[in-house]
Amino acid sequence: MAVPAKVRVAILISGRGSNMVALVEAARDPAFPAEIVLVLSNDSGAEGLSRAAAAGIPTKALDHRSYPDRATFDAAIDAALREAGAELVCLAGFMRILTDGFVEGWAGRMLNIHPSLLPLFKGTHTHAQALAAGVRLHGCTVHFVVPELDAGPIVAQAAVPVRQGDDPDSLAARVIVQERRLYPAALALVAGGKARLDAGRVVIDAVPSEGVLFSL
Ligand code: GAR
Repeated sequence: MAVPAKVRVAILISGRGSNMVALVEAARDPAFPAEIVLVLSNDSGAEGLSRAAAAGIPTKALDHRSYPDRATFDAAIDAALREAGAELVCLAGFMRILTDGFVEGWAGRMLNIHPSLLPLFKGTHTHAQALAAGVRLHGCTVHFVVPELDAGPIVAQAAVPVRQGDDPDSLAARVIVQERRLYPAALALVAGGKARLDAGRVVIDAVPSEGVLFSL
C-alpha cells in the first residue's frame, strides 16, 4: 500500500524553541503524519534557530524591525512559508501578533500552543495570572489560530496541578513538560486528518484517552 504523503509543516518561533524541538523529534518517526520543512524566527538570535539547524531543519530569520509595518512583515513570512511549500503552520512561542489578513490566509491551517487552559488567562504572564486567580488546575492548549488573540477552536489541552508554594517559574516548569507532549500529539491529529474543523469546533476521529482530573 502506498505510504500517505506527509503534511509539510513550518514552525514559527521567537525564543528557545523547546516546543519546536519536540515537534521536530516527533516528526522523526516514520509513522508521524507531518514533516518539518522550515523553522522561521522574527529574531536571528533566537536560540531555537540554532537548535533547528543542528537538527538539520532549514531555518530562516526575518527581523520584524526591518519592516515598516506588520502587514509588510507578515507578507514576508507568508512568502517564506509558500517558498518552503508549507501546508500547515505551527506557532511555537512566536511572540508577534499576526495581522488578520495573514491569519485568514492560513485559516484552518495554523495551530498555536498557549500556556494556559484557554479560554482562561489569555495574553502574557499566564502562570502569574493562574496563581493570582487561585485555580487548582492550570495547563496548556493547542488551538487553531483565528484573528482574535488566543482564541480559536481548541484541538487539545493538558492540565497540571497548581501546588501550594508554586511561583510562576515552578508552575511554568510543570506546564512546559506537558506542552512538549501535547503539541506533537495535537499536530499528529490535525496532520493525520483525525482532527477537523466543523462549524467552528474541532471534531476528533480518534479513540479518546480516558481519565478524570482532579487536584487537591
Ligand atoms: C511556551 O510556553 C509557549 O506556550 C509560549 O511561549 C513558550 C515558548 O517556549 N507561547 C506563548 O506564550 C504564546 N502566546 P519554547 O520556545 O521553549 O517552545
